[in-house]
Amino acid sequence: MKKFVLVTGGAGYIGSHTAAALAERGYEPIIYDNLSEGHIEAADGRLLVIGDTADTLKLNELFKKYDFKAVFHFAAASLVGESVKDPAKYYTNNLSAALNLLSVMLNFGVKNIIFSSTCATYGNPVRLPMDEEHPQAPINPYGSSKLMAETVLKDYNAAYGLNYAILRYFNAAGAHPSLPIGESHRHETHLIPLALKTLIKGSGKKLTIFGTDYDTPDGTCIRDYIHVSDLADAHILAMEKLFADGGGFAVNLATGKGHSVKEIIDAVHFVTGLKVPVLTGERRAGDPPVLVAANTLAAHLLGFSPKYTDIHKIIQTAWNWEVNKRF
Ligand code: UFG
Repeated sequence: MKKFVLVTGGAGYIGSHTAAALAERGYEPIIYDNLSEGHIEAADGRLLVIGDTADTLKLNELFKKYDFKAVFHFAAASLVGESVKDPAKYYTNNLSAALNLLSVMLNFGVKNIIFSSTCATYGNPVRLPMDEEHPQAPINPYGSSKLMAETVLKDYNAAYGLNYAILRYFNAAGAHPSLPIGESHRHETHLIPLALKTLIKGSGKKLTIFGTDYDTPDGTCIRDYIHVSDLADAHILAMEKLFADGGGFAVNLATGKGHSVKEIIDAVHFVTGLKVPVLTGERRAGDPPVLVAANTLAAHLLGFSPKYTDIHKIIQTAWNWEVNKRF
């Protein structure tokens, strides 16, 4: 019997890698994506239904057609800066559309959701590394919208028996090591792809380092970069945990290792043999100096440990993708 799972946002970056991992493990991912951020090519030949999670009628049709065992909810807006300028977009996409999806799930008796959350729900760190008990005090509407959705999931679990896995990603990076999928945002804002893009012949681009006066060893911000294939694997482990035990849990997905912006630039040089042209700029609003996770709960609950523990290997996959990009 086919094990259908719904992957909203499955034509996006993390969603497409998870859909690929699901297919590799014998599940039947049905990708549902409005293509506002996603790409048809990222579905990589898997079944893609173009639609919005706010569209109840379309979701009803889909849930009538397939007996979903679980829903992966990736479809969301995810840029901190944009969320400050346009919070309505974030509360609409990340909260209201999620509520809609949850209603359809409950109507059809689909009880398992794997939800994409973020370290942005924690806000500024009050202790490091940040574990799951760290206070959640988001400092931007993106983090707030995700935290509100987390609260909804917990309440729905208590009231309606919905099983949930809340996965709080730190910085997703890298690309699939063999399939033609990788990171491709229409408007790129992330450090690693921006650094790599400066190295493409004739790009004429430079990377601006956002702040060199942070209270960190080299003055630049430190982040915890986790490979997208590791994220995908963790999603499947989370689903299987819900199948086995039900209930609900929230875990960080991270390597537990921090790298500064300058270290990333050096690592890009090491991997590619090319020097990233850089400019020094002002701090970017809303950037905490250090975000590094405690990742032991995911190991304990899910048996998850990231395979990519070397930043060079992560960057190597991103570079392979950047030079062979199909979309
Ligand atoms: N950076 C630069 N120059 C750039 C781009 C980024 O110096 O051109 C720096 C940023 O200031 C930051 C680091 O590189 O210190 C990483 O920035 P990214 O934009 O790649 O990633 P973020 O840490 O801002 O974003 C991640 C997730 C978000 C999440 C956020 C929480 O992608 O979804 O962490 O802070 F909300």
